[in-house]
Amino acid sequence: MINLTYYGHSCFEIQTGPTRVIIDPFLTGNPLASKKASDVKADFVLVTHAHGDHLGDAVEIATAGDGTVVCNYEIANYCEGKGAKTHPMHIGGSAPFPFGHVKLTIAHHGSSFPDWSYGGNPCGFIVTTSDKKIYHAGDTGLFYDMKLIGEEGIDVALLPIGDNFTMGAEDALRAVKLIKPRVVVPMHYNTMEVIKEDPHNFRARVENETESKCVVLGPGESYQVDE
Ligand code: NI
Ligand code: MN
Repeated sequence: MINLTYYGHSCFEIQTGPTRVIIDPFLTGNPLASKKASDVKADFVLVTHAHGDHLGDAVEIATAGDGTVVCNYEIANYCEGKGAKTHPMHIGGSAPFPFGHVKLTIAHHGSSFPDWSYGGNPCGFIVTTSDKKIYHAGDTGLFYDMKLIGEEGIDVALLPIGDNFTMGAEDALRAVKLIKPRVVVPMHYNTMEVIKEDPHNFRARVENETESKCVVLGPGESYQVDE
């Protein structure tokens, strides 16, 4: 069973067999978070970039539960400096893990740490587990190479729709047309005023204009990927 749970903003937990993988655990300070960082147990913590609303509680969660932070080399150095176990990677690279495979994809965005130090390039992730592929786009604008990501056969695409800092709904719809995932789940909206978006409008457009299904998850809600 692969269970995907949304915790608000860009934070998702993938539970696959006995393994818990959390992506972009921005819980402390996130007004929409449905869970406290101290209640999260994760074996792997994937971080798309160093911005505070993605790095979030990664170090705390990893060190509290003996988890490993999976991220680019620059963020890995930072997390190791704070006592976390890490698995450094970089864009285009993939690696095997006990639950499957992780590959880093490009993302067009910035990636400084909250103290403005350099966080390397931002990324997205393709997580392959039990023959299912989940693509977390991270923070990004639309890019045509999403078509290449789609060629891998994506089951679930997690795409930002909030605009201002990332693609908005219009471009996210174009992304769906490039990626052609079986299911799309919107993220990175409504956490703050400048990224306000109605996910149900987005869902209606995805289901009218593409072959993909759109699942809107409220914070705390789950979707079973291999149903
Ligand atoms: Ni960002
Ligand atoms: Mn962000």
